[in-house]
Amino acid sequence: MELSTLLFDVRDGIAVITFNRPDKLNALNRQVIDDLGKAVDHVRQTPEIKAAILTGAGPKAFVAGADISEFQNLHGLAARRLSAKGTGIFRSIEKSTKPYVAAVNGFALGGGCELAMACHFRLASENAKFGQPEVKLGIPPGYGGTVRLVRLVGKGRAIELLTTGAMIDAQEAYRIGLVNRVYPADQLLPEAEKIVRTIVANAPLAVGACLEMANIQEGLQIDDALAVESSFFGVLFETEDAVEGAKAFLEKRPPKFVGK
Ligand code: COA
Repeated sequence: MELSTLLFDVRDGIAVITFNRPDKLNALNRQVIDDLGKAVDHVRQTPEIKAAILTGAGPKAFVAGADISEFQNLHGLAARRLSAKGTGIFRSIEKSTKPYVAAVNGFALGGGCELAMACHFRLASENAKFGQPEVKLGIPPGYGGTVRLVRLVGKGRAIELLTTGAMIDAQEAYRIGLVNRVYPADQLLPEAEKIVRTIVANAPLAVGACLEMANIQEGLQIDDALAVESSFFGVLFETEDAVEGAKAFLEKRPPKFVGK
């Protein structure tokens, strides 16, 4: 896989995908979006990869947004296409049955905040900063910001952030539920890897089912969502891992999951 703007490392079945344009605060230009699409496809197609962590190169930024230098001379349909392409890739991260965790190590602004929100959950360093400053540039967010921010932190808080364009720090992001945990900068990646290792030690089909159901329920009434959960529950009982999980518990030993 040829990637010019991302680093892609696999450690113990966990892909660490690092946005690598630190001199431009890892801003998302067209090349980064293309590379991200390839990386996401590779994660989906590679059985040995069980999960992914997204982070940014350098001490200052996760991703400081879409690359504003590409906004000059961008009009109507081309802008719509640009938005739709990134949105499609972010959505495939969100719909992945392998977990994606954002390790936010600095600025996560505009598309950077939207990318973090498309991940299954977010961890932050103490120097992380979040915001949707698009209105300061005369545009609304274009990579899902108005949708996912509302869902994650509630409509009132989201609208305040979207319309002021204000930046919030990691503690405030933690307080409003945008990030799950905050760490000193040097501990962020090791702690993210620790949490992801815990997840990948669990039965992969069961983990994938949790991710899938968490997405499906967003579009359903409660009775339908609960019925879908019951169906998944039944289907997962047909797996070898469900047999192994109960057996290992009763035999007082750790389970050996095979993803079948
Ligand atoms: N697009 C393109 N380039 C960007 C960028 C972006 N979103 N964010 C930062 N950069 C570039 C800067 O232009 C600068 O490049 P240069 O050294 O060639 O001039 C470099 O990254 C470093 O950024 P700089 O602004 O000097 O750092 P800072 O610490 O003073 O400020 C920010 C950091 C994040 C507050 C500031 O860069 C910023 O506001 N960026 C834009 C954020 C934004 O609006 N994102 C949403 C886009 S839709």
